[in-house]
Amino acid sequence: MISKGLEGIVANSTRLSDVLGDKGQLIYAGYDINELAGQVSFEEVIYLLWNERLPTRAELNQLTANLRVHRELPAQVVSFLQETPKDANPMDVIRTAVSMLGLYDTTKGYDRDSNYARCLSLTAKIGVVTGYYHRARQGKDLPPIRTDLGEAAHFLYLLDGKEPTQEAADTLDLAYVLHADHGMNASTFTARVVVATLTDVYSAVTAAIGALKGPLHGGANEGVIHMLKAIGDEDKVDAWVDEQLAQKKKIMGIGHRVYKTLDPRAPHLRNMAVKLTDQLGEPKWVRMSERIATRMKEKKGLNANVDFYSATVYYSLGLPTDLFTPIFAISRTAGWTAHILEQLSDNRLYRPLSEYTGTPVGLTVKPIDER
Ligand SMILES: CC(C)(COP(=O)(O)OP(=O)(O)OC[C@H]1O[C@@H](n2cnc3c(N)ncnc32)[C@H](O)[C@@H]1OP(=O)(O)O)[C@@H](O)C(=O)NCCC(=O)NCCS
Repeated sequence: MISKGLEGIVANSTRLSDVLGDKGQLIYAGYDINELAGQVSFEEVIYLLWNERLPTRAELNQLTANLRVHRELPAQVVSFLQETPKDANPMDVIRTAVSMLGLYDTTKGYDRDSNYARCLSLTAKIGVVTGYYHRARQGKDLPPIRTDLGEAAHFLYLLDGKEPTQEAADTLDLAYVLHADHGMNASTFTARVVVATLTDVYSAVTAAIGALKGPLHGGANEGVIHMLKAIGDEDKVDAWVDEQLAQKKKIMGIGHRVYKTLDPRAPHLRNMAVKLTDQLGEPKWVRMSERIATRMKEKKGLNANVDFYSATVYYSLGLPTDLFTPIFAISRTAGWTAHILEQLSDNRLYRPLSEYTGTPVGLTVKPIDER
């Protein structure tokens, strides 16, 4: 029997995260996401996913220092970011740059320590790749790497060339925490399938970025902002949603393959969105979002997912719309790399079957001029 889209299929076991769709619960290595959110930093979550336990202070300091030391990009990758088309999709640029990083990785060996070193280096660099491309495409200078800022604050510093406010850094840090891992989602599955051939870590993460880019996966958050702008006003929401549904179009940021109730990440992002839009004096974005969510619940029984409110949070932080999915990629690199290490620790090639629905066998080959 075929399960289209592998719905309901258990493809592997993992100790890293669990998505309980009927309860609306997300667990990272034994911790409910609601327990982690607001209590731990993104760096602590990286440690948790890589080691299956939260770090002590000394272990966190060590990880933080290691990540900061590995931020500097190879000169050739910096040149690529400066020379690549300025109107490129940033996800394409990041995907290419991550692939390039593999060329300049001098780590030898394929043991866990070597692969861990590659995962650490990639996790440290992906935010820098994104920040530098954003600066370069505007013709701006590339700010020197700093080692006194955490992952979220450093990314915001690279975008603006100046240190962010504590509130902005904390907001992005929490968004990173919420997006770090999510069971056997499409891009994580991609990373695991690719690395299970015993290819390299860079190939696996490059493929995962390609999967995340799609609008049915990480690309949905950009779609949410385009949708809010297209609707324009709260009183136009119902008619707009009804029209989209009549045309059998998807509403971005709504629905989920696994969650049959509320995505537990959504309320955290909603709270952040409410706070930020209030401060900006633009509460209409959240009000419109609430109206869309209510209408979709009424009409289709579907709930908002992680991308629905993260879009408004990033928009309120002044982040460009086409960096929303790259930001997702930066935080999900923690999960991808953890899954890559886990896959390699007990590897077996993924090789499912397919049902053949083509022409029954028996055709004979006619000479080419007679076909
Ligand atoms: C996430 C998603 C891909 C899951 O898809 P899925 O499990 O394959 O579910 P399907 O696409 O088969 O949808 C099942 C039904 O719900 C409807 N549906 C699901 N999400 C919908 C949405 N966002 N807008 C409108 N209808 C939706 C489908 O049209 C279908 O309805 P039907 O049975 O009347 O034809 C899907 O909900 C979606 O496309 N959402 C929008 C993109 C998004 O926000 N992605 C980020 C996910 S975190």
